Amino acid sequence: MFSLQGDRVLVVGGTSGIGLGAAQAMKAAGAAVTVASRSAEKVAAAAASAGVEGVVLDAGNDGAVEAFFASRAPWNHVVVSVTAAHKGRIREMAMDDAMASMNQKFWSAFRIARSGKFAPDGSLIFVSGQVGKRPRIDAILQGAINAGLEGLARGLALDLSPLRVNVVSPGPVDTPQLATLSAAQREALESAIERLPVRRIGAPADIGEAIVFLACNRFMTGATLRVDGGSTVA
Ligand SMILES: NC(=O)c1ccc[n+]([C@@H]2O[C@H](COP(=O)([O-])OP(=O)(O)OC[C@H]3O[C@@H](n4cnc5c(N)ncnc54)[C@H](OP(=O)(O)O)[C@@H]3O)[C@@H](O)[C@H]2O)c1
Repeated sequence: MFSLQGDRVLVVGGTSGIGLGAAQAMKAAGAAVTVASRSAEKVAAAAASAGVEGVVLDAGNDGAVEAFFASRAPWNHVVVSVTAAHKGRIREMAMDDAMASMNQKFWSAFRIARSGKFAPDGSLIFVSGQVGKRPRIDAILQGAINAGLEGLARGLALDLSPLRVNVVSPGPVDTPQLATLSAAQREALESAIERLPVRRIGAPADIGEAIVFLACNRFMTGATLRVDGGSTVA
């Protein structure tokens, strides 16, 4: 039912966390997978561990993204799972950091949609996040970026049709991002997980399975699939 046999899949931000989980799930479904990110070490480690192709690519750079897609055959599916580095309350965030976060997560998705080469029956999948639907005061820009990605995907489903464009919105997932949390943020996360209807943190594989579904289901486009352990109803 969920076969990607013969498909070429690119996962930008595929060298860690949710992106790596997506790459592993896509490979298990039969796809030939390429993972891409900025760090050559992360690319080499992820490519070796997942048994996929690895490419160094900074999705925050217009010219690099354009040159990458121009040099490659069209992709059946492209997943964008790039982090935004800076989180925090609005008065604590420098404008340069805010702009960098927007460039890293929102504009990366936009420029990949703009320059990407896709098979006509292919799909483009963004990763947003629960704070796009349910804001948290220490992640308000992240929430706006996520909500923006979900709106962008709805518009792209029209503009790039018949390419399908969808979003997966995860709840808390156990990835290397957790190591960047302060003690207070970690405590808040633990209490949020206790309140989750599913009573556990998500795994990258939970999100990877949903991404395979979005790639395979030919009637899904312009949609946001919430795979959040019930975060938005808790
Ligand atoms: N973990 C969660 O609880 C959670 C919840 C909801 C939503 N999300 C979202 O899920 C996405 C993935 O998060 P994660 O937790 O999996 O983070 P992660 O483990 O830190 O992975 C982030 C990936 O993005 C890559 N990356 C960052 N900037 C890049 C750039 N400019 N160009 C190319 N690649 C870039 C990183 O590799 P390099 O450093 O090598 O570039 C890495 O492969 C993010 O958008 C995050 O907001 C996460």
